[in-house]
Amino acid sequence: MKVLSIVGARPQFVKLAPIAEAFTATSHSHVIVHTGQHYDAKMSDVFFADLRIPAPDVHLGIGSGSHGVQAGSMLAALDGVLDEHRPDWVLVYGDTNSTLAGALAAVKLHLPLAHLEAGLRSFNRAMPEEHNRVLTDHAADLLLTPTQLGMDNLAREGLAERAVRVGDVMTDVCFRVRDAVRNEPPALPDGVRAGDYIVSTVHRAENTDDPDRLRAIIEALAGLDRPVVLLAHPRLVARCHEFGIKLERPDSSLHTAEPLPYPGMVAAVLHSAGVVTDSGGLQKEAYLLGRPCTTVRTETEWVETLEGGWNVLAEPDGLAAAVRRPAPTHPQGAPYGDGQAATHVVDVLTR
Ligand code: UD1
Repeated sequence: MKVLSIVGARPQFVKLAPIAEAFTATSHSHVIVHTGQHYDAKMSDVFFADLRIPAPDVHLGIGSGSHGVQAGSMLAALDGVLDEHRPDWVLVYGDTNSTLAGALAAVKLHLPLAHLEAGLRSFNRAMPEEHNRVLTDHAADLLLTPTQLGMDNLAREGLAERAVRVGDVMTDVCFRVRDAVRNEPPALPDGVRAGDYIVSTVHRAENTDDPDRLRAIIEALAGLDRPVVLLAHPRLVARCHEFGIKLERPDSSLHTAEPLPYPGMVAAVLHSAGVVTDSGGLQKEAYLLGRPCTTVRTETEWVETLEGGWNVLAEPDGLAAAVRRPAPTHPQGAPYGDGQAATHVVDVLTR
């Protein structure tokens, strides 16, 4: 069997790592295509190096652009690549523009398409990720979903027959890396002590593209009563610069730093007092690593994390109260699988 994975953005490299590893234990051929959606070394190369992912077989070098330009350029470039490789499966990941372009390219060439992390829904049609995941699910032949809720969402949309619950590949990689970094101290800005800080990321379009909302979020983070290590995504830096919002505030709780590689991020969360984010992956990592999370969004696809108060949704004006809430005591369940999702994915594709 030949499987061709299409990835392009940071969270997809994390999901690719356990899949690539599972393939190395088989005689199947696994081709990796990188669209180039994320191109900074800190957003791409370090993930391949740290997570020991084989170098991409093909790099399209597309880069940033408006949604139409970015996805359209990928689509145009993928035709020739898919035609050359003619895989048994095209495998796309998550909900980015690289996912959608890969899905469209595969179905137009009548190549079987599998979607990893299928069935997630925010039900917020203003989010670019929601269009990407709904369209990809409806185009795909095989829907590999992480959770029971994913199965239920797909069934409601008439897609149950194509859906298989495999667990969440992010559990595989998160637990593997947690065990490797458990005793390593996190790299923290000066003046920040292990156990007494909040790890934060903010990058979603709905939070970064509206100047008033972005300013309110940054002010709320700067006003928290313990140090906040804000790992700034390039999109956040670009928008703050454009809107005149200062990220360097030496007299506040805010410590802005560059994005961390994956093992560094796991170590930072493990040694933190909690997380404030709008990232899907980080909400789940906080849950898997047993740290309370506050999510700066009005909804989440990962509703299992809300149970027992491990994760709460907050608007900027409610952020401080949400972060101060008592630590959750209810034990987390295991809604995201057994850490063997990638092996299940390879088995299902083979069958
Ligand atoms: C994309 C995904 C989002 C995912 C996120 C993870 C879409 C629609 N969104 O959002 O679902 O959660 O990746 O990070 O696909 N930039 C750089 N260097 C890079 C990459 C981006 O400077 O390596 C800057 C550019 O200014 C670019 C902006 O970040 O315009 C946004 O990048 P883009 O890939 O369009 O989307 P993300 O915000 O990263």
